[in-house]
Amino acid sequence: MPGLITMDDLTNEEIISLLDDAERLLPVARGTQYLPLLQGKILGNLFFEPSTRTRMSFETAMKRLGGDVVNLGDVKNSSVVKGETLFDTIQMVDGYTDIIAMRHPRQGAAQYACDSATVPILNGGDGAGNHPTQTMLDLFTIRQAHGTLENLNIVLAGDLRYGRTVHSLSHALTRFGCEVTFASPSSLSMPQEIISDLRSEGAKITETDDLLSHISTADVIYMTRIQKERFPDESEYAKVAGAYKLHARDLADAKAEMIIMHPLPRVNEIDPTVDKTRHARYFEQAFNGVVARMALMCWLLGVTIPSDIKSDGGGA
Ligand code: CP
Repeated sequence: MPGLITMDDLTNEEIISLLDDAERLLPVARGTQYLPLLQGKILGNLFFEPSTRTRMSFETAMKRLGGDVVNLGDVKNSSVVKGETLFDTIQMVDGYTDIIAMRHPRQGAAQYACDSATVPILNGGDGAGNHPTQTMLDLFTIRQAHGTLENLNIVLAGDLRYGRTVHSLSHALTRFGCEVTFASPSSLSMPQEIISDLRSEGAKITETDDLLSHISTADVIYMTRIQKERFPDESEYAKVAGAYKLHARDLADAKAEMIIMHPLPRVNEIDPTVDKTRHARYFEQAFNGVVARMALMCWLLGVTIPSDIKSDGGGA
């Protein structure tokens, strides 16, 4: 069954078409238009790891489109604690639902689920692997700000080793000809297999540990949290915790249209002084998760989005 496990599951043309769909759905996400395209459909939310945005935006997306949601809920209160395997859990939820959004601590778990499911699986994050639905909302946000995805100068900063959002996003950005700068402490650099993949596809990549010197040329700065939960040794985390923190004062030489993004949650990577600047885009980015996930669920469920949804005047 088709699903979305990595960005390789989408062509560039499909990405653009899905972003166009998402844009048309903005009034529905805002609740100013009611469009029950997914009435009668049930989303299964299987989150084996904590989540606020991904889980809630999937739920909002399905409910705004007239569908319903069943949640695994807290793993501690599920039969996982009795020893039920992922395979068996998927067999059950496959029968209860029409589509599944899943997050799991193990890299590759979403592909494993997809291989045995009869309903589409949307990967909501698999360990330090991929987070492609986040990438779709990230691309939506970038296009909203810059009007294009092509040939932009993007800085991805922070924990590039364990951060699954930047693994998925870097693949997508380079496919659109963006020049990508990876800014991280050396112990958290982008995995070499990803760098090799990107270079073999002709991507323009720079690696650095100096974030500040790349601010003035960036169109997008994408900050990430250091993924404390993925460190095998807490003392290693302590060495890099707080490695990068953006303040409003760091942005004096930034381009006027440069945007700062973050998949959230932030811990201390972006000082609150940045929130009031024209560059801050992370809360709109989180909202865009609703339209991006609406478009993906409609696509996977074979539902066409009408081209004539009445705009609510809120703009893209
Ligand atoms: N961006 C993101 O994946 O956030 P959550 O962990 O809250 O879902």
